[in-house]
Amino acid sequence: MCGIFGIVTKDEQPLGPILIDAARRLTYRGYDSVGAATISGSKIDLRKDTGRVDDVAARYNFAEMTGQRGITQLRWATFGEPSQVNSQPHLDSDGDLVGAHNGNVVNNVELRQQFMAEGLTVRSQNDGESCVHAVERYINKGYDFIDAIRLAYGDLQGDYAFVIGRINDDKLYAIKKGSGLVVGIGGSFTCVSSDLPSILPLTREIMRIQDGEIITLWPDRVELRSVKDGSLISRNTETVTETMDAVQKGGYPHFMLKEIHEQPQVARELLHLLESNPDVQTMLEKMRTARQLYFVGCGTSYHACLAGAVFFAKIAGRAAIPVLAPQFVPQYAPAVNYEDVGLFVSQSGETKDVLNALQSGEEKGITSFGLANVIGSTLTKATSCTLPLCCGYEISVPATKTFTNQVVAFLYLAYRLAGRDTAELAVIPDLMEKTLEMVTPQVAAIAPAVNKWNDLYCLGYGATYAMALEGALKLKEITYAHCEGMLSTEFKHGPLSAVTKGFPILFAAGPLDVSLIVSGINEVTCRGARAIAIGEEDARLRANASDLIALPKSTPEIASLLAVLPLQLLSYQMSVMRGFDPDFPRNLSKTLTVD
Ligand code: M6R
Repeated sequence: MCGIFGIVTKDEQPLGPILIDAARRLTYRGYDSVGAATISGSKIDLRKDTGRVDDVAARYNFAEMTGQRGITQLRWATFGEPSQVNSQPHLDSDGDLVGAHNGNVVNNVELRQQFMAEGLTVRSQNDGESCVHAVERYINKGYDFIDAIRLAYGDLQGDYAFVIGRINDDKLYAIKKGSGLVVGIGGSFTCVSSDLPSILPLTREIMRIQDGEIITLWPDRVELRSVKDGSLISRNTETVTETMDAVQKGGYPHFMLKEIHEQPQVARELLHLLESNPDVQTMLEKMRTARQLYFVGCGTSYHACLAGAVFFAKIAGRAAIPVLAPQFVPQYAPAVNYEDVGLFVSQSGETKDVLNALQSGEEKGITSFGLANVIGSTLTKATSCTLPLCCGYEISVPATKTFTNQVVAFLYLAYRLAGRDTAELAVIPDLMEKTLEMVTPQVAAIAPAVNKWNDLYCLGYGATYAMALEGALKLKEITYAHCEGMLSTEFKHGPLSAVTKGFPILFAAGPLDVSLIVSGINEVTCRGARAIAIGEEDARLRANASDLIALPKSTPEIASLLAVLPLQLLSYQMSVMRGFDPDFPRNLSKTLTVD
């Protein structure tokens, strides 16, 4: 959560357009506020406020900002409400230093009190400001800049990265502790950012920063030092070859719709890659003989774990325990040992809840594997091996293509564990294409009626239970309606009382579960509900449900995967109908590096 970007050039020049573009590309990390600062000689120009990049940049005319160094920050609020004063970057007491952070400084409240007691000028409640004062307090005591940052690092508890600059200097400084940080090296500039999308349009030469490293950025070089003892660290640059197409909308009105339509292609790429990935075998051998097998994730990634556990049991006869990452810590970690295996699942590979669970398992000797989209992320480094999801950038905050590829990866692993021919899965991408084509008009036909409701349910059973939870999460995430996902058989145990005339209930029906789902449908339609079934063409569903969103014919496991596509489209269409931006729903962030 939160995004930072800083750039250092040789001479003073227009930096506003570069900062605006970098901020736009980091919007997915937070959009409660945006700020930009440029530094030249003894001048700092700081502009910031709540709102989206284009709006704030236009209101404060970021485009005219010039300087020799620049910093921009996108905020996802944790410490301090979204407001102008809490927006970043922040100045120190005298306005000589300017800095911004991403992540969370967990002792922010205590630090602010200390700074005030020391006579520093504290203007906000925001922990980014504490990063600046933490450096300032040691500058005031006579330390040089690098030592001041090293000492500040010791004072600032939590997981964060920050970038800071000062007047009458020609450098920026950055530090990493827990949150992502990447450096870019261009011909006549260097830059630093929370993530690659803001760097790649400028340069392909990058350097990944590790925790506990301080970076000094000059226009033509960077220097890495250890926070521990200040010693120099040598690191080679890498050249990134990925294209930037993925971070453009490619003709779609929103990234979410583009990413929904990319699902067949990324599934195809993933299936190819898994066929030739040697880590698959290593993981399967350990999973086969594990005493207990845990699938661990949060949000959408947890839903993929639920589907994975059903596939493993049904296809490979191997029980796995799907668990929400934060609950893994008290519920399972105390009881695991070296005989157990955990598969930690995360799109970003930076979700703090997942990393905490991983650490708690590893402390007890568990063998840990990962399933992640962002290669080079903390999860990919912390596990003994990680399978990549091969989705490219997923910009839209609601996860879509990374979810379906997580499910495809689980299905593939279950097939391999069972010794089944994975060639049978090669039909998935075409079936996904066909599904999108078939369901788009069907979803459009029911969306206006469903959209009238602010309260709905999404039910499923077996692997479609995971899809129902995922559909409900998508609906609440981007329509702001209350939508609960539930096991279909549980609905009669209480929620049934919510049903009134026309109340919409979505039923994801696997082909083998139709009879069970039909019972659930009748329990609600006889009380006036509108039951919208999602499943393969089936006379029983046609006869009993109020509507049927028909999917192409496939196998029971693939059918459950396909059932999530109309739910993604329904949530997208309702979000747009309500006038919301599905890519950047309020209050959320794509990467949650906080507890
Ligand atoms: O990066 P991760 O997969 O670890 O993220 C976990 C959740 O925050 C994430 O899946 C979230 O639920 C999605 N934005 C929902 O669309």
